[in-house]
Amino acid sequence: MSKVEIINLYRKYGLKIVKGYMQYIWDDKGNKYLDCHTNYGAAFLGHCNPRVVEPIVKQLNKLMMIPYSFDNDARDKVLEDLSKILPKKLCYVFFQSTGTEAVEAALKFSRKATRRKKIVAFEHSFHGRTMGSLSTTWKPKYREPYKPLIPGVIFGKFNSVEDAYNIIDDNTAAVIVEPIQGEGGINVASPDFLKALRERTYETNSLLIFDEVQCGFGRTGRIWAFQHYNVEPDILTAGKAVGGGYPVSFVATCKEVGEAMDIGDHGTTYGGNPVACTAVSAAINVLLGDNVPEQALEKGRVLTKKFQELLSELKLNFNVKGLGLMLGIDFRRNPEDEAIKLKDYGVLAVRAGETVLRFLPPYMINSEDIEHVMSALEKLLTRKT
Ligand SMILES: Cc1ncc(COP(=O)(O)O)c(C=O)c1O
Repeated sequence: MSKVEIINLYRKYGLKIVKGYMQYIWDDKGNKYLDCHTNYGAAFLGHCNPRVVEPIVKQLNKLMMIPYSFDNDARDKVLEDLSKILPKKLCYVFFQSTGTEAVEAALKFSRKATRRKKIVAFEHSFHGRTMGSLSTTWKPKYREPYKPLIPGVIFGKFNSVEDAYNIIDDNTAAVIVEPIQGEGGINVASPDFLKALRERTYETNSLLIFDEVQCGFGRTGRIWAFQHYNVEPDILTAGKAVGGGYPVSFVATCKEVGEAMDIGDHGTTYGGNPVACTAVSAAINVLLGDNVPEQALEKGRVLTKKFQELLSELKLNFNVKGLGLMLGIDFRRNPEDEAIKLKDYGVLAVRAGETVLRFLPPYMINSEDIEHVMSALEKLLTRKT
């Protein structure tokens, strides 16, 4: 009897992964890998981190789901915990399950709050694959088969202060940007660019959305990447790492946006369920308890320096990009094969943009792991075929 198959939408690594613990995963043959792919960054707190798993299991045995119509103790607790890591300005949150849903909510809330339609996004952005978020995602391959997308989205050049001033106007509902673009190639926003976006959105009374689904929650060396810049958004989207590996996302908004929403304006079945809320509380506990952002910053510095030293030893003129543990090496050509071949040396990584090999390791990688990454990379770069 033939079984059903997964629709073929992803390049395959040729591995069957059966187990994970912290920074490592194992295949069905017992081979161990250092995971610098982490499901596009989602396993930043490690795989099956016991400090995340144990509270989740406890909650699973207590109450798995309850809609927003009912109050819940786990939800009360996560709101308290979030107030420790969100700026005061972002005083409303709404939970969903995936990053793209958080972006959908951010776009819908912006239109409702401003009663305007225009959205400004940027080249090389990635905000998700559902029709609204896809409309703000730049890559033509992701967009073309699904047109017409939602109207009113305009793309500016990432890091162009000039575009910030020219494109954002009095019709703009919101500007959406990743402070560090992940899928688009690990592109770090310049301080001038984010400042210009903030200035111009204030001038035009439009909203500034920072999409930190990939770069948020400690990965870049601050709890939120925007904290490197001293610029606060009106709306923040977060996902991936915020549940410590459990699927949960949220949108956080300023008072004006939160209060513009009425009963029935938006909704979701699984968002804000007690298990997801428990996962976020547990993840925040790890984030703060282990000084995760500081660890990411320091380990990111070490890795960056070692990458640069290796590349210069091998006389390879490749740029190393990123912040904290959100790093990329620009191969100046498609590095898809390299991303997959790296597994032969016990390390998993993932492509970003057209030319970048991306490393998104969990925060607990140690100096031995860093040496492992370096020796794997050296073997990869000096391999003959
Ligand atoms: C910045 C950003 N926003 C949104 C998304 C969409 O998240 P999800 O795949 O959970 O829907 C991603 C996913 O990679 C992302 O990197």
